[in-house]
Amino acid sequence: MKLIDGTTIAEKVHEETRASVAEITKSGLCPGLAVVLVGNDPASRTYVRKKAEQCAKLGFHSLRLELPETTSQQELLAHVAQLNADPKIHGILVQSPPPPHIDEAKIVHAIAPEKDVDGFHPVNVAKLALEDPSGFVPCTPLGCRRLLLEYGIPTSGARVVVLGRSMIVGKPLALLLMSKGPGGDAIVTVAHSRTRNLGEITREADIIFSAIGRPYFLREEHVREGAVVVDVGINRVEDPSHKRGYRLVGDVDFETVAPKCSLITPVPGGVGPMTIAMLLSNTLKACRQIHGLPG
Ligand code: GUN
Repeated sequence: MKLIDGTTIAEKVHEETRASVAEITKSGLCPGLAVVLVGNDPASRTYVRKKAEQCAKLGFHSLRLELPETTSQQELLAHVAQLNADPKIHGILVQSPPPPHIDEAKIVHAIAPEKDVDGFHPVNVAKLALEDPSGFVPCTPLGCRRLLLEYGIPTSGARVVVLGRSMIVGKPLALLLMSKGPGGDAIVTVAHSRTRNLGEITREADIIFSAIGRPYFLREEHVREGAVVVDVGINRVEDPSHKRGYRLVGDVDFETVAPKCSLITPVPGGVGPMTIAMLLSNTLKACRQIHGLPG
Protein backbone atom coordinates (compact mmCIF):
# COMPACT_ATOMS: atom_id res chain seq x y z
CA MET A 1 0.00 0.00 0.00
CA LYS A 2 1.24 3.44 -0.95
CA LEU A 3 -0.19 6.81 0.07
CA ILE A 4 -1.27 9.40 -2.48
CA ASP A 5 0.32 12.61 -1.22
CA GLY A 6 -2.12 15.41 -2.02
CA THR A 7 -0.13 18.01 -0.11
CA THR A 8 2.93 17.56 -2.34
CA ILE A 9 0.93 17.49 -5.60
CA ALA A 10 -1.07 20.57 -4.50
CA GLU A 11 2.23 22.38 -3.90
CA LYS A 12 3.31 21.44 -7.43
CA VAL A 13 0.06 22.90 -8.85
CA HIS A 14 0.57 26.05 -6.75
CA GLU A 15 4.10 26.38 -8.18
CA GLU A 16 2.73 26.19 -11.73
CA THR A 17 0.12 28.81 -10.86
CA ARG A 18 2.72 31.04 -9.19
CA ALA A 19 4.93 30.89 -12.30
CA SER A 20 1.99 31.77 -14.54
CA VAL A 21 0.95 34.65 -12.29
CA ALA A 22 4.50 36.03 -12.42
CA GLU A 23 4.32 35.90 -16.21
CA ILE A 24 0.98 37.69 -16.59
CA THR A 25 1.91 40.25 -13.94
CA LYS A 26 4.40 41.58 -16.51
CA SER A 27 1.46 42.68 -18.65
CA GLY A 28 -0.08 44.44 -15.66
CA LEU A 29 -2.63 41.73 -14.82
CA CYS A 30 -3.38 40.22 -11.44
CA PRO A 31 -5.89 37.39 -10.99
CA GLY A 32 -8.57 38.24 -8.44
CA LEU A 33 -10.79 35.90 -6.45
CA ALA A 34 -13.85 36.85 -4.39
CA VAL A 35 -15.00 34.38 -1.75
CA VAL A 36 -18.42 34.98 -0.23
CA LEU A 37 -19.54 33.36 3.00
CA VAL A 38 -23.02 33.77 4.43
CA GLY A 39 -23.42 32.79 8.09
CA ASN A 40 -21.12 31.33 10.71
CA ASP A 41 -20.64 27.66 9.91
CA PRO A 42 -17.25 26.92 11.51
CA ALA A 43 -16.05 24.47 8.82
CA SER A 44 -17.01 26.93 6.05
CA ARG A 45 -15.21 29.76 7.85
CA THR A 46 -12.05 27.66 7.97
CA TYR A 47 -12.26 26.85 4.23
CA VAL A 48 -12.84 30.49 3.32
CA ARG A 49 -9.89 31.66 5.45
CA LYS A 50 -7.61 29.05 3.86
CA LYS A 51 -8.62 30.15 0.37
CA ALA A 52 -7.81 33.80 1.15
CA GLU A 53 -4.46 32.84 2.71
CA GLN A 54 -3.44 30.82 -0.34
CA CYS A 55 -4.44 33.70 -2.64
CA ALA A 56 -2.08 35.99 -0.75
CA LYS A 57 0.77 33.45 -1.02
CA LEU A 58 0.43 33.21 -4.80
CA GLY A 59 0.12 36.93 -5.47
CA PHE A 60 -3.60 36.94 -6.22
CA HIS A 61 -5.86 39.82 -5.41
CA SER A 62 -8.46 38.44 -3.02
CA LEU A 63 -11.67 39.71 -1.55
CA ARG A 64 -13.34 38.00 1.39
CA LEU A 65 -16.96 38.89 1.94
CA GLU A 66 -18.30 37.54 5.23
CA LEU A 67 -22.00 38.29 5.45
CA PRO A 68 -24.30 37.76 8.44
CA GLU A 69 -26.62 34.73 8.64
CA THR A 70 -29.56 37.15 8.23
CA THR A 71 -28.43 38.34 4.77
CA SER A 72 -31.42 38.22 2.42
CA GLN A 73 -31.51 36.63 -1.00
CA GLN A 74 -31.82 40.10 -2.57
CA GLU A 75 -28.81 41.42 -0.67
CA LEU A 76 -26.71 38.43 -1.69
CA LEU A 77 -27.77 38.82 -5.32
CA ALA A 78 -26.75 42.49 -5.16
CA HIS A 79 -23.28 41.49 -3.90
CA VAL A 80 -22.94 38.95 -6.72
CA ALA A 81 -23.96 41.59 -9.31
CA GLN A 82 -21.33 43.94 -7.93
CA LEU A 83 -18.63 41.25 -8.16
CA ASN A 84 -19.72 40.35 -11.70
CA ALA A 85 -19.09 44.00 -12.66
CA ASP A 86 -15.79 44.35 -10.74
CA PRO A 87 -12.88 44.33 -13.25
CA LYS A 88 -10.37 43.32 -10.53
CA ILE A 89 -12.33 40.12 -9.82
CA HIS A 90 -12.02 37.14 -12.20
CA GLY A 91 -13.38 34.38 -9.98
CA ILE A 92 -16.42 34.36 -7.70
CA LEU A 93 -17.15 31.63 -5.19
CA VAL A 94 -20.14 31.57 -2.85
CA GLN A 95 -19.37 29.04 -0.14
CA SER A 96 -21.83 26.14 -0.04
CA PRO A 97 -24.08 25.37 1.74
CA PRO A 98 -25.71 28.78 2.35
CA PRO A 99 -28.30 29.24 5.12
CA PRO A 100 -31.66 27.57 4.39
CA HIS A 101 -33.51 30.80 3.47
CA ILE A 102 -31.16 31.30 0.51
CA ASP A 103 -32.07 29.67 -2.81
CA GLU A 104 -28.64 28.42 -3.82
CA ALA A 105 -29.61 27.67 -7.43
CA LYS A 106 -30.69 31.30 -7.95
CA ILE A 107 -27.37 32.54 -6.58
CA VAL A 108 -25.38 30.17 -8.81
CA HIS A 109 -27.40 31.29 -11.86
CA ALA A 110 -26.60 34.93 -11.03
CA ILE A 111 -22.80 34.43 -11.13
CA ALA A 112 -21.33 35.38 -14.53
CA PRO A 113 -20.37 32.02 -16.12
CA GLU A 114 -16.94 33.39 -17.10
CA LYS A 115 -16.24 34.10 -13.40
CA ASP A 116 -17.80 30.88 -12.09
CA VAL A 117 -14.56 29.23 -10.94
CA ASP A 118 -16.58 26.65 -8.96
CA GLY A 119 -18.05 25.34 -12.22
CA PHE A 120 -21.57 25.23 -10.77
CA HIS A 121 -23.33 27.49 -13.30
CA PRO A 122 -25.51 25.59 -15.83
CA VAL A 123 -23.36 26.94 -18.68
CA ASN A 124 -20.27 25.34 -17.14
CA VAL A 125 -22.09 22.11 -16.26
CA ALA A 126 -23.14 21.90 -19.92
CA LYS A 127 -19.61 22.64 -21.12
CA LEU A 128 -18.28 19.79 -18.97
CA ALA A 129 -20.87 17.42 -20.42
CA LEU A 130 -20.03 18.66 -23.92
CA GLU A 131 -16.27 18.37 -23.25
CA ASP A 132 -15.80 22.04 -24.13
CA PRO A 133 -12.43 23.01 -22.55
CA SER A 134 -13.37 26.70 -22.21
CA GLY A 135 -15.68 25.84 -19.27
CA PHE A 136 -14.89 25.58 -15.59
CA VAL A 137 -14.85 22.16 -13.95
CA PRO A 138 -15.61 21.96 -10.20
CA CYS A 139 -12.40 22.07 -8.18
CA THR A 140 -12.65 18.84 -6.18
CA PRO A 141 -13.25 16.57 -9.22
CA LEU A 142 -10.48 18.43 -11.05
CA GLY A 143 -8.16 17.79 -8.10
CA CYS A 144 -9.12 14.09 -8.04
CA ARG A 145 -8.28 13.70 -11.73
CA ARG A 146 -4.97 15.49 -11.28
CA LEU A 147 -4.00 13.04 -8.51
CA LEU A 148 -4.67 10.09 -10.84
CA LEU A 149 -2.61 11.70 -13.61
CA GLU A 150 0.29 12.54 -11.31
CA TYR A 151 0.46 8.98 -9.98
CA GLY A 152 0.14 7.46 -13.46
CA ILE A 153 -3.01 5.56 -12.51
CA PRO A 154 -4.54 4.34 -15.79
CA THR A 155 -8.18 5.28 -16.31
CA SER A 156 -8.71 4.30 -19.95
CA GLY A 157 -11.00 1.29 -19.95
CA ALA A 158 -10.73 1.06 -16.15
CA ARG A 159 -13.75 0.27 -13.98
CA VAL A 160 -14.36 3.26 -11.76
CA VAL A 161 -17.02 3.60 -9.08
CA VAL A 162 -18.03 7.04 -7.84
CA LEU A 163 -19.92 7.02 -4.53
CA GLY A 164 -22.13 10.09 -4.31
CA ARG A 165 -24.12 12.08 -6.87
CA SER A 166 -23.75 15.66 -5.64
CA MET A 167 -23.40 18.57 -8.05
CA ILE A 168 -20.15 19.54 -6.27
CA VAL A 169 -18.36 16.20 -6.53
CA GLY A 170 -20.08 13.00 -7.66
CA LYS A 171 -21.82 14.12 -10.83
CA PRO A 172 -19.03 16.29 -12.30
CA LEU A 173 -16.43 13.69 -11.30
CA ALA A 174 -18.34 11.01 -13.21
CA LEU A 175 -18.54 13.29 -16.27
CA LEU A 176 -14.83 14.05 -16.09
CA LEU A 177 -13.85 10.38 -15.80
CA MET A 178 -15.98 9.33 -18.76
CA SER A 179 -14.81 12.18 -21.00
CA LYS A 180 -12.25 11.48 -23.71
CA GLY A 181 -8.51 11.87 -23.13
CA PRO A 182 -5.95 11.65 -20.33
CA GLY A 183 -7.53 10.96 -16.94
CA GLY A 184 -10.75 9.94 -18.71
CA ASP A 185 -12.09 7.15 -20.94
CA ALA A 186 -13.17 5.21 -17.84
CA ILE A 187 -16.16 2.92 -17.40
CA VAL A 188 -18.01 4.84 -14.73
CA THR A 189 -20.63 3.63 -12.27
CA VAL A 190 -22.24 6.16 -9.94
CA ALA A 191 -23.56 4.65 -6.71
CA HIS A 192 -25.48 6.53 -4.01
CA SER A 193 -27.68 6.21 -0.95
CA ARG A 194 -30.30 4.14 -2.81
CA THR A 195 -27.83 1.65 -4.24
CA ARG A 196 -28.55 -1.98 -3.35
CA ASN A 197 -25.72 -4.47 -2.78
CA LEU A 198 -23.07 -1.79 -2.84
CA GLY A 199 -20.26 -4.27 -2.23
CA GLU A 200 -21.07 -6.19 -5.43
CA ILE A 201 -20.48 -2.99 -7.38
CA THR A 202 -17.46 -1.61 -5.55
CA ARG A 203 -15.62 -4.95 -5.47
CA GLU A 204 -15.52 -4.84 -9.28
CA ALA A 205 -13.81 -1.45 -9.28
CA ASP A 206 -10.21 -0.70 -10.18
CA ILE A 207 -10.66 2.78 -8.69
CA ILE A 208 -13.19 3.90 -6.06
CA PHE A 209 -13.95 7.54 -5.26
CA SER A 210 -15.98 8.13 -2.12
CA ALA A 211 -17.87 11.42 -1.80
CA ILE A 212 -20.68 10.35 0.51
CA GLY A 213 -19.95 12.39 3.65
CA ARG A 214 -20.26 9.57 6.17
CA PRO A 215 -17.33 8.48 8.34
CA TYR A 216 -16.20 4.83 8.04
CA PHE A 217 -18.68 4.27 5.18
CA LEU A 218 -16.35 2.34 2.87
CA ARG A 219 -15.09 -0.78 4.58
CA GLU A 220 -12.74 -3.66 3.89
CA GLU A 221 -15.49 -5.88 2.43
CA HIS A 222 -16.29 -3.24 -0.23
CA VAL A 223 -12.82 -3.18 -1.78
CA ARG A 224 -10.95 -5.67 -3.89
CA GLU A 225 -7.25 -6.42 -3.38
CA GLY A 226 -5.09 -3.91 -5.29
CA ALA A 227 -7.75 -1.26 -5.85
CA VAL A 228 -7.04 2.48 -5.81
CA VAL A 229 -9.18 4.39 -3.27
CA VAL A 230 -9.67 8.15 -3.35
CA ASP A 231 -11.41 9.47 -0.24
CA VAL A 232 -13.17 12.78 -0.87
CA GLY A 233 -15.01 12.86 2.47
CA ILE A 234 -14.16 15.37 5.18
CA ASN A 235 -16.11 14.44 8.30
CA ARG A 236 -15.76 15.70 11.85
CA VAL A 237 -15.89 13.00 14.51
CA GLU A 238 -15.84 13.72 18.23
CA ASP A 239 -12.50 13.06 19.85
CA PRO A 240 -12.05 14.39 23.39
CA SER A 241 -8.33 13.55 23.25
CA HIS A 242 -7.89 16.10 20.47
CA LYS A 243 -7.28 19.76 21.33
CA ARG A 244 -10.29 20.91 19.27
CA GLY A 245 -12.51 18.13 20.63
CA TYR A 246 -12.90 16.58 17.18
CA ARG A 247 -10.76 15.21 14.39
CA LEU A 248 -11.24 14.95 10.64
CA VAL A 249 -11.82 11.60 8.98
CA GLY A 250 -12.81 10.67 5.44
CA ASP A 251 -15.53 8.28 4.24
CA VAL A 252 -13.14 5.36 4.25
CA ASP A 253 -12.40 3.09 7.20
CA PHE A 254 -8.71 3.67 6.56
CA GLU A 255 -7.34 1.10 9.03
CA THR A 256 -9.00 -1.87 7.35
CA VAL A 257 -9.20 -0.62 3.75
CA ALA A 258 -5.66 0.73 3.31
CA PRO A 259 -3.86 -2.64 3.56
CA LYS A 260 -5.91 -3.94 0.59
CA CYS A 261 -5.19 -0.97 -1.69
CA SER A 262 -2.37 -0.39 -4.12
CA LEU A 263 -2.83 3.35 -3.54
CA ILE A 264 -5.03 5.34 -1.17
CA THR A 265 -5.48 8.99 -0.22
CA PRO A 266 -5.20 9.92 3.46
CA VAL A 267 -7.55 12.38 5.19
CA PRO A 268 -6.32 15.01 5.80
CA GLY A 269 -3.59 15.48 3.20
CA GLY A 270 -5.23 13.75 0.23
CA VAL A 271 -7.91 15.41 -1.89
CA GLY A 272 -8.42 18.41 0.45
CA PRO A 273 -5.31 20.40 -0.51
CA MET A 274 -6.00 19.71 -4.19
CA THR A 275 -9.37 21.46 -4.12
CA ILE A 276 -7.86 24.80 -3.20
CA ALA A 277 -5.01 24.34 -5.68
CA MET A 278 -7.51 23.80 -8.50
CA LEU A 279 -9.58 26.79 -7.35
CA LEU A 280 -6.62 29.10 -7.82
CA SER A 281 -5.75 27.40 -11.10
CA ASN A 282 -9.35 27.98 -12.28
CA THR A 283 -9.15 31.63 -11.19
CA LEU A 284 -5.97 32.09 -13.21
CA LYS A 285 -7.72 30.49 -16.19
CA ALA A 286 -10.65 32.90 -15.77
CA CYS A 287 -8.26 35.86 -15.66
CA ARG A 288 -6.51 34.72 -18.84
CA GLN A 289 -9.79 34.10 -20.66
CA ILE A 290 -11.35 37.41 -19.63
CA HIS A 291 -8.24 39.25 -20.86
CA GLY A 292 -7.96 37.21 -24.06
CA LEU A 293 -4.64 35.55 -23.19
CA PRO A 294 -3.93 32.07 -24.58
CA GLY A 295 -3.76 28.98 -22.34
N1 GUN B 1 -18.46 23.68 -0.12
C1 GUN B 1 -17.75 22.53 -0.13
N2 GUN B 1 -16.99 22.44 -1.24
C2 GUN B 1 -17.23 23.57 -1.96
C3 GUN B 1 -16.73 24.05 -3.20
O1 GUN B 1 -15.92 23.43 -3.91
N3 GUN B 1 -17.21 25.26 -3.59
C4 GUN B 1 -18.10 25.96 -2.84
N4 GUN B 1 -18.52 27.13 -3.31
N5 GUN B 1 -18.59 25.55 -1.70
C5 GUN B 1 -18.13 24.34 -1.25
